[in-house]
Amino acid sequence: MTDAPMDAPMNAPLVSVSRLSKHYGGERRLIGGTVPLLKAVNNVSFDIAPGETLGLVGESGSGKSTTGRVLLQLEAPTDGDILYKGENITGLSKPALKSYRRDMQIIFQDPYASLNPRMTVGEFVAEPLDVHGLAGSRSERQDRVASLFSKVGLDPSFMKRYPHEFSGGQRQRVSIARAIALNPAFIVADEPITALDVSIQAQIVNLFQDLQDELGLTYLFIAHDLSMIRYLCHRVAVMLRGRIVEIGPCEAIFENPQHPYTRALLSAIPVPDPDIERNRRPIAFDVNANLPPEEAVLRPVGHGHFVLGV
Ligand SMILES: Nc1ncnc2c1ncn2[C@@H]1O[C@H](COP(=O)(O)OP(=O)(O)OP(=O)(O)O)[C@@H](O)[C@H]1O
Ligand SMILES: [Mg+2]
Repeated sequence: MTDAPMDAPMNAPLVSVSRLSKHYGGERRLIGGTVPLLKAVNNVSFDIAPGETLGLVGESGSGKSTTGRVLLQLEAPTDGDILYKGENITGLSKPALKSYRRDMQIIFQDPYASLNPRMTVGEFVAEPLDVHGLAGSRSERQDRVASLFSKVGLDPSFMKRYPHEFSGGQRQRVSIARAIALNPAFIVADEPITALDVSIQAQIVNLFQDLQDELGLTYLFIAHDLSMIRYLCHRVAVMLRGRIVEIGPCEAIFENPQHPYTRALLSAIPVPDPDIERNRRPIAFDVNANLPPEEAVLRPVGHGHFVLGV
C-alpha cells in the first residue's frame, strides 16, 4: 500500500488513449475517384499507468507505429483523444506541445538512421539539452552528457566519436541516452531491438528495464518478438488491422489467450524445450476471413483482460 491521501486517484493513468483513429487516404483525386481509405488505427482505447510497460504486438502493417506516432502527436489523429497526466493534448499547437515533447520521447528501430553521421555522438546526445535551453555552462553540459553515457552503459570517453565507430547495440544506447536527456516520463520504443543481433537484444532489453527501475519510466514498447515482450512488459495489447483485438496482463495474454489471432501469434513462438518444440503446431489465422466487425467492442474476460467481440 502507498501512503497516498485517500482522495488521490490510485493508479491514475499517465497516458490515456480513447477512441483513437488515424485514417489515410479517402481524399478526392484531381482526376477520377478517391484515394482508397485505409484505417491504419481504428477506434483504439487503452491506458498506461505510471511506471508500467505496455507491449504492443501484431503483424506488419497492423498500425503499431502509427499508434505510437499519433500518441506522441507527431501526426494528428483523425479522431479520438489522448490524455497525458489527465490533460487532453489532442490538437494542441506546437508551442503548447513543447513541454510535452520534453516529457514524451520516441526511440526507433534503426539507430543508424536516427543518428547524424557528421555529428559526434556526444553532440547528438546534448542536442535536446541545447534545444530546450537546459545545457547550462560548457562544463555542466559536458558533465550531463557524460552521466547520460554512463547511465546507458557507454564509456563517457566515447563522446567525441562518430556513429560509424559504434556497433548496432552501442548506437541504440546512444539513441537511448538522447531520449532520456530531458528526463522524460514516457517513452515510445518502436521496435528498438528488432535490427540488433540476437545476442545484443537481451542487453538492450535489460537496459530498458534498468532505466525504468532507476528513473521510473513508463513505456509503450512495440515489438514483433513476443518472447521479449513477455520478459519486459506488464501488459500486452494485440493489434490486428488497426484494432486492438485483445489486451490484458502479460500472464493472461500468454497463458490464457482468448482471441484466435492472439492464439495464432503465440503458437508461432519457438519453444526452447526440444520435446515440446517437436510437437508445436502453429495455428493458422486467416485475417481476411476474420476481420473484426466495425461494431465489435472490447469485452472483459478476466481481471483487466479484454477481448474484441460483438
Ligand atoms: N503516412 C502514411 N500514409 C499512408 N499510409 C500509411 C502511412 N503510414 C502508415 N501507413 C499505412 O498504415 C498501416 C499501418 O502502418 P504502421 O506502420 O503503423 O504498421 P506497423 O504495425 O507499425 O507495421 P510494422 O510491423 O511493419 O512496423 C499500413 O498499412 C501502412 O502502409
Ligand atoms: Mg512499425
